[in-house]
Amino acid sequence: MDRVELIQNIFHKTDFENYLEIGCQKGKSFLPIRAKNKIAVDPVFKIAIGRRLKWLFKWPANFKANYFRLESDVFFETQQDYLQNLDQLDVVLVDGLHNFRASLNDVLNTLVYLNIDGIIILHDCYPPHEAASVFADVFPTEEQQGELEGWTGEWCGDVWKTIAYLLEKYPDLLDVGVINTDYGLGYVRFKAEPDSRKFEVDEDLFERVDKLSYQEMMSEPEGIINLQPASYSETILSLY
Ligand SMILES: C[S@@+](CC[C@H](N)C(=O)[O-])C[C@H]1O[C@@H](n2cnc3c(N)ncnc32)[C@H](O)[C@@H]1O
Repeated sequence: MDRVELIQNIFHKTDFENYLEIGCQKGKSFLPIRAKNKIAVDPVFKIAIGRRLKWLFKWPANFKANYFRLESDVFFETQQDYLQNLDQLDVVLVDGLHNFRASLNDVLNTLVYLNIDGIIILHDCYPPHEAASVFADVFPTEEQQGELEGWTGEWCGDVWKTIAYLLEKYPDLLDVGVINTDYGLGYVRFKAEPDSRKFEVDEDLFERVDKLSYQEMMSEPEGIINLQPASYSETILSLY
Protein backbone atom coordinates (compact mmCIF):
# COMPACT_ATOMS: atom_id res chain seq x y z
CA MET A 1 0.00 0.00 0.00
CA ASP A 2 1.54 3.35 -0.96
CA ARG A 3 0.95 6.75 0.67
CA VAL A 4 -2.04 7.61 -1.50
CA GLU A 5 -3.79 4.29 -0.84
CA LEU A 6 -3.14 4.47 2.88
CA ILE A 7 -4.39 8.05 3.18
CA GLN A 8 -7.37 7.36 0.95
CA ASN A 9 -8.36 4.31 2.99
CA ILE A 10 -8.22 6.36 6.20
CA PHE A 11 -10.63 8.92 4.68
CA HIS A 12 -12.90 6.06 3.50
CA LYS A 13 -13.09 4.58 6.99
CA THR A 14 -13.69 7.80 8.94
CA ASP A 15 -15.71 10.99 8.87
CA PHE A 16 -12.46 12.96 8.56
CA GLU A 17 -12.74 16.02 6.31
CA ASN A 18 -9.50 18.00 6.39
CA TYR A 19 -6.36 17.02 4.48
CA LEU A 20 -3.11 18.98 4.43
CA GLU A 21 -0.21 18.10 2.15
CA ILE A 22 3.16 19.75 2.74
CA GLY A 23 5.17 19.39 -0.47
CA CYS A 24 2.75 18.85 -3.35
CA GLN A 25 4.91 19.34 -6.46
CA LYS A 26 3.01 17.86 -9.45
CA GLY A 27 -0.05 16.98 -7.37
CA LYS A 28 0.47 13.23 -7.91
CA SER A 29 -0.56 12.45 -4.36
CA PHE A 30 -2.57 15.59 -3.59
CA LEU A 31 -5.10 15.56 -6.43
CA PRO A 32 -6.35 11.94 -6.13
CA ILE A 33 -7.06 12.13 -2.38
CA ARG A 34 -10.84 12.19 -1.94
CA ALA A 35 -11.17 14.45 1.08
CA LYS A 36 -13.72 17.23 1.51
CA ASN A 37 -11.33 20.04 2.41
CA LYS A 38 -7.86 19.94 0.87
CA ILE A 39 -4.91 22.22 1.49
CA ALA A 40 -1.58 22.12 -0.32
CA VAL A 41 1.59 23.97 0.69
CA ASP A 42 4.60 24.23 -1.59
CA PRO A 43 6.85 27.14 -2.62
CA VAL A 44 7.01 25.74 -6.18
CA PHE A 45 3.89 24.02 -7.51
CA LYS A 46 4.39 22.12 -10.77
CA ILE A 47 0.87 20.84 -11.45
CA ALA A 48 0.24 20.32 -15.16
CA ILE A 49 -3.04 21.83 -16.35
CA GLY A 50 -4.13 18.48 -17.84
CA ARG A 51 -3.71 16.67 -14.53
CA ARG A 52 -5.47 19.48 -12.66
CA LEU A 53 -8.45 19.36 -15.03
CA LYS A 54 -8.69 15.57 -14.94
CA TRP A 55 -8.89 15.56 -11.17
CA LEU A 56 -11.33 18.47 -11.02
CA PHE A 57 -13.81 16.26 -12.81
CA LYS A 58 -12.93 13.06 -10.98
CA TRP A 59 -13.16 14.68 -7.54
CA PRO A 60 -15.03 18.02 -7.63
CA ALA A 61 -13.89 18.96 -4.09
CA ASN A 62 -10.62 19.80 -5.85
CA PHE A 63 -12.41 22.96 -7.09
CA LYS A 64 -12.26 24.42 -3.59
CA ALA A 65 -8.83 23.12 -2.62
CA ASN A 66 -6.59 25.79 -1.15
CA TYR A 67 -3.08 26.19 -2.51
CA PHE A 68 -0.49 28.11 -0.49
CA ARG A 69 2.60 28.97 -2.51
CA LEU A 70 4.79 29.19 0.59
CA GLU A 71 7.53 27.38 2.44
CA SER A 72 5.88 25.36 5.20
CA ASP A 73 7.52 27.32 8.05
CA VAL A 74 6.09 30.53 6.58
CA PHE A 75 2.70 28.86 6.10
CA PHE A 76 2.47 27.90 9.77
CA GLU A 77 3.72 31.30 10.88
CA THR A 78 1.39 33.42 8.73
CA GLN A 79 -1.76 31.26 8.49
CA GLN A 80 -2.58 30.68 12.16
CA ASP A 81 -6.06 32.21 11.89
CA TYR A 82 -6.83 30.13 8.80
CA LEU A 83 -5.69 26.95 10.56
CA GLN A 84 -7.65 27.73 13.72
CA ASN A 85 -10.81 28.40 11.69
CA LEU A 86 -10.44 25.02 9.99
CA ASP A 87 -11.07 23.46 13.39
CA GLN A 88 -8.49 20.69 13.07
CA LEU A 89 -6.29 18.78 10.67
CA ASP A 90 -7.34 15.16 10.26
CA VAL A 91 -4.71 13.68 7.93
CA VAL A 92 -1.43 15.38 7.02
CA LEU A 93 1.20 14.23 4.54
CA VAL A 94 4.65 15.67 5.30
CA ASP A 95 6.58 15.48 2.02
CA GLY A 96 8.23 18.91 1.71
CA LEU A 97 11.87 19.69 2.28
CA HIS A 98 13.55 16.31 2.89
CA ASN A 99 15.80 17.11 5.81
CA PHE A 100 15.67 16.50 9.55
CA ARG A 101 15.16 20.11 10.64
CA ALA A 102 12.43 20.93 8.11
CA SER A 103 10.49 17.68 8.52
CA LEU A 104 10.67 17.93 12.32
CA ASN A 105 9.35 21.50 12.17
CA ASP A 106 6.56 20.34 9.87
CA VAL A 107 5.52 17.63 12.34
CA LEU A 108 5.73 19.85 15.43
CA ASN A 109 3.80 22.64 13.70
CA THR A 110 1.18 20.15 12.54
CA LEU A 111 0.72 18.66 16.04
CA VAL A 112 -0.65 22.02 17.20
CA TYR A 113 -3.71 21.55 14.96
CA LEU A 114 -3.94 17.74 14.67
CA ASN A 115 -7.23 16.04 15.52
CA ILE A 116 -6.58 13.90 18.63
CA ASP A 117 -7.53 10.86 16.47
CA GLY A 118 -5.78 12.17 13.36
CA ILE A 119 -2.56 11.04 11.73
CA ILE A 120 0.57 12.47 10.18
CA ILE A 121 2.22 10.45 7.42
CA LEU A 122 5.82 11.29 6.50
CA HIS A 123 7.13 10.14 3.16
CA ASP A 124 10.72 8.90 2.61
CA CYS A 125 11.56 7.65 6.10
CA TYR A 126 13.42 4.49 5.01
CA PRO A 127 15.97 5.34 2.29
CA PRO A 128 16.75 2.38 0.01
CA HIS A 129 20.52 3.01 0.17
CA GLU A 130 23.02 5.43 1.66
CA ALA A 131 23.20 7.70 -1.40
CA ALA A 132 19.44 8.33 -1.11
CA SER A 133 19.88 9.44 2.51
CA VAL A 134 22.40 12.21 1.92
CA PHE A 135 21.77 15.64 3.42
CA ALA A 136 21.00 18.34 0.84
CA ASP A 137 19.37 21.75 0.91
CA VAL A 138 16.66 21.12 -1.67
CA PHE A 139 17.85 18.19 -3.80
CA PRO A 140 21.43 16.88 -4.23
CA THR A 141 23.25 19.10 -6.75
CA GLU A 142 24.80 17.55 -9.85
CA GLU A 143 28.18 17.91 -8.19
CA GLN A 144 26.94 16.05 -5.06
CA GLN A 145 25.31 13.38 -7.23
CA GLY A 146 28.59 12.82 -9.11
CA GLU A 147 30.40 12.20 -5.83
CA LEU A 148 27.77 9.83 -4.42
CA GLU A 149 28.55 6.17 -4.83
CA GLY A 150 25.42 4.27 -5.80
CA TRP A 151 23.33 7.37 -6.66
CA THR A 152 20.16 6.21 -8.46
CA GLY A 153 18.19 9.46 -8.63
CA GLU A 154 16.13 8.44 -5.57
CA TRP A 155 16.34 10.91 -2.68
CA CYS A 156 14.84 10.62 0.80
CA GLY A 157 17.30 12.79 2.71
CA ASP A 158 17.50 12.33 6.49
CA VAL A 159 13.77 12.62 7.27
CA TRP A 160 14.15 9.30 9.18
CA LYS A 161 15.87 11.28 11.96
CA THR A 162 12.55 13.01 12.70
CA ILE A 163 11.10 9.59 13.55
CA ALA A 164 14.12 8.76 15.76
CA TYR A 165 13.72 12.12 17.53
CA LEU A 166 9.97 11.75 18.13
CA LEU A 167 10.36 8.19 19.43
CA GLU A 168 12.87 9.32 22.02
CA LYS A 169 11.19 12.61 22.95
CA TYR A 170 7.54 11.56 23.24
CA PRO A 171 7.34 7.84 24.21
CA ASP A 172 4.13 8.35 26.21
CA LEU A 173 2.47 11.01 24.09
CA LEU A 174 2.96 9.78 20.52
CA ASP A 175 2.64 6.54 18.61
CA VAL A 176 5.46 6.75 16.05
CA GLY A 177 7.06 4.38 13.56
CA VAL A 178 7.82 3.64 9.93
CA ILE A 179 5.98 1.23 7.63
CA ASN A 180 8.36 -0.51 5.25
CA THR A 181 6.62 0.49 2.02
CA ASP A 182 6.84 3.37 -0.51
CA TYR A 183 10.33 4.52 0.66
CA GLY A 184 9.20 4.29 4.28
CA LEU A 185 5.93 5.79 5.45
CA GLY A 186 6.42 7.39 8.85
CA TYR A 187 3.31 7.65 11.00
CA VAL A 188 2.64 9.88 14.01
CA ARG A 189 -0.52 9.69 16.12
CA PHE A 190 -1.45 10.87 19.59
CA LYS A 191 -1.44 8.12 22.24
CA ALA A 192 -2.70 10.47 24.92
CA GLU A 193 -4.22 13.93 25.27
CA PRO A 194 -1.33 16.45 25.29
CA ASP A 195 -1.06 18.79 28.30
CA SER A 196 -0.20 21.61 25.95
CA ARG A 197 -0.12 22.14 22.19
CA LYS A 198 3.27 23.84 22.30
CA PHE A 199 6.00 21.71 20.79
CA GLU A 200 9.48 23.18 20.73
CA VAL A 201 12.62 21.60 19.36
CA ASP A 202 14.83 20.10 22.06
CA GLU A 203 18.15 21.24 20.60
CA ASP A 204 20.29 18.85 22.68
CA LEU A 205 18.30 15.87 21.48
CA PHE A 206 18.28 17.27 17.93
CA GLU A 207 22.07 17.48 17.95
CA ARG A 208 22.40 13.95 19.31
CA VAL A 209 19.99 12.43 16.77
CA ASP A 210 21.57 14.44 13.96
CA LYS A 211 24.88 12.67 14.63
CA LEU A 212 23.35 9.24 13.91
CA SER A 213 24.57 7.83 10.61
CA TYR A 214 22.59 5.96 7.98
CA GLN A 215 24.63 2.80 8.79
CA GLU A 216 23.78 3.08 12.49
CA MET A 217 20.08 3.38 11.67
CA MET A 218 20.28 0.44 9.24
CA SER A 219 22.00 -1.72 11.86
CA GLU A 220 18.90 -1.49 14.07
CA PRO A 221 15.94 0.03 12.19
CA GLU A 222 13.41 -1.75 14.45
CA GLY A 223 14.85 0.12 17.44
CA ILE A 224 15.90 3.45 15.97
CA ILE A 225 12.89 4.18 13.74
CA ASN A 226 10.48 1.44 14.94
CA LEU A 227 10.42 -0.12 11.47
CA GLN A 228 7.30 -2.18 10.82
CA PRO A 229 6.54 -4.57 7.94
CA ALA A 230 4.50 -3.39 4.95
CA SER A 231 1.47 -5.24 6.36
CA TYR A 232 1.41 -2.73 9.25
CA SER A 233 -0.63 -0.42 6.99
CA GLU A 234 -3.55 -2.76 7.72
CA THR A 235 -2.90 -2.44 11.45
CA ILE A 236 -3.02 1.35 11.15
CA LEU A 237 -6.27 1.09 9.19
CA SER A 238 -7.76 -1.23 11.79
CA LEU A 239 -7.43 1.60 14.33
CA TYR A 240 -10.07 3.60 12.43
C1 LIG B 1 8.98 15.05 -3.28
S1 LIG B 1 8.13 16.49 -3.72
C2 LIG B 1 6.48 16.18 -3.17
C3 LIG B 1 5.82 15.08 -3.90
C4 LIG B 1 4.34 14.90 -3.67
N1 LIG B 1 3.94 14.88 -2.27
C5 LIG B 1 3.89 13.60 -4.31
O1 LIG B 1 3.76 12.59 -3.58
O2 LIG B 1 3.71 13.57 -5.51
C6 LIG B 1 8.74 17.66 -2.57
C7 LIG B 1 8.14 19.03 -2.71
O3 LIG B 1 8.47 19.77 -1.55
C8 LIG B 1 8.57 21.11 -1.92
N2 LIG B 1 9.29 21.87 -0.90
C9 LIG B 1 10.60 22.17 -0.84
N3 LIG B 1 10.87 22.93 0.23
C10 LIG B 1 9.68 23.11 0.87
C11 LIG B 1 9.30 23.81 2.05
N4 LIG B 1 10.19 24.47 2.78
N5 LIG B 1 8.00 23.79 2.40
C12 LIG B 1 7.08 23.10 1.66
N6 LIG B 1 7.39 22.43 0.54
C13 LIG B 1 8.68 22.42 0.16
C14 LIG B 1 9.27 21.09 -3.27
O4 LIG B 1 9.00 22.29 -3.99
C15 LIG B 1 8.65 19.86 -3.91
O5 LIG B 1 7.59 20.21 -4.75
